[in-house]
Amino acid sequence: MTTAEPSSGPAADPVGWDDLRAAAAAVANQAYAPYSRLHVGAAVRTAAGDIVTGCNVENASYGLTLCAECGVVSELHRGGHGPIVAVCASTPEGTILLPCGRCRQLLMEHGGPDLLVDTPDGPVPLDEILPHAFGAGDLPT
Ligand code: THU
Repeated sequence: MTTAEPSSGPAADPVGWDDLRAAAAAVANQAYAPYSRLHVGAAVRTAAGDIVTGCNVENASYGLTLCAECGVVSELHRGGHGPIVAVCASTPEGTILLPCGRCRQLLMEHGGPDLLVDTPDGPVPLDEILPHAFGAGDLPT
């Protein structure tokens, strides 16, 4: 006898994407983005099951702008959270955004190549959108 896979619930969706997407959209409302007017929220699921969030914070110098994912990484360390397993970046309206190149590299450090990154077409492993990534293993021992 085989056991049918559940079509919903924690076993079918261990990441809890609905909650992660809702958290990203909610924190996007905290963004400080008077220059681009693109309000971004990012939410990650930690391996321990917590959700950690951040929003973009712009600067009149433009180049010093902090992406939403930067806020997440800072908060991950402040809160003593471990590695992450999934990430979603979103506008307040729920439009899913792909992390910029710099943020893909930041996320690689904390989630590795198997980190699930939300896209408008559904989650993909980070390795798919940041192939052949530079990492700590490339540094001299
Ligand atoms: N932004 C993020 O917060 N995350 C990304 O991955 C892409 C871009 C922000 C930075 C800036 O405040 C605005 O979006 C426009 O680039």
